[in-house]
Amino acid sequence: MKDEEIDLYIEAGKIAARILAQGAREIRVGVPLLSLVEKVEGMVIDAGAGLAFPLNVSRNEDAAHDTASRGDQRVFEPGDVVKIDLGVHLDGYIADCATTVDLGDHEGLVAASREGLERALESVRPGVTTGALGKAIQKAIESRGFRPVVNLTGHGLAPYMIHTPPNIPNVGFPGGAILKEGLVFAIEPFATTGSGQVSEKPRAEIFQQVAVRPVRPPAARRILDEVRERRGMPFSRRWLSDPRPDIPLASLARDGVLRRYPVLADVAGSLVSQAEHTLIVTGDGCIVTTR
Ligand code: CO
Repeated sequence: MKDEEIDLYIEAGKIAARILAQGAREIRVGVPLLSLVEKVEGMVIDAGAGLAFPLNVSRNEDAAHDTASRGDQRVFEPGDVVKIDLGVHLDGYIADCATTVDLGDHEGLVAASREGLERALESVRPGVTTGALGKAIQKAIESRGFRPVVNLTGHGLAPYMIHTPPNIPNVGFPGGAILKEGLVFAIEPFATTGSGQVSEKPRAEIFQQVAVRPVRPPAARRILDEVRERRGMPFSRRWLSDPRPDIPLASLARDGVLRRYPVLADVAGSLVSQAEHTLIVTGDGCIVTTR
């Protein structure tokens, strides 16, 4: 990787870390989810950066992929465990980071995913396997009495691409990809009081264009025109100018042009925490870009 590319990753990381921390401070009981996402996404644009994906705001058993919809009436409630997951990019060079805000009494759960992340970051250096990172995460989370979420993983990053190989599991397994100098990826442990497996809810607010092909219905064409500048990065239903985009979104998803990102949740009544950083593997460890 060229020095200029490393610099862009580091600069994007600084912006993301600062805005994630500011966003976390805005999360209080009674604050509308919609005002939080608008504020945080606005801060990214004001910083001269781009959003690599809509701000994810997922509460309680919802682990990932929720965000506010247009006209969203939801507010943060007492006891909520709130995950915010932010993706910032500069010329496509992405910083992906997340944190959990506890509006209840769940310090242990929040600490579990954070510790899993720290133990994994300490282990990163060339030659280490992704399976070993998963083992470090699993051990930290289980030692605090929680379960890691087995079917959510960290992921490689590449220009304009938020999910590239390798996956970084949240549980140990023998083998896996071997880390090499210059590899850029995000580690994102999830700790849960539930089953340790997420499944899809009906709600989907986040979409991504995954294929280019001619589309006839005008409403669907307008959506593709609007999201072209995303260069394949995910977008929010809330960002579209069409106030009722559900029918064209559904048809584009059915035709394989768009991918839906349904909300991913553990069992009802459970609580999930998340912590995430982006890093670049160096000769003897890593640079965490989103500290
Ligand atoms: Co991520």
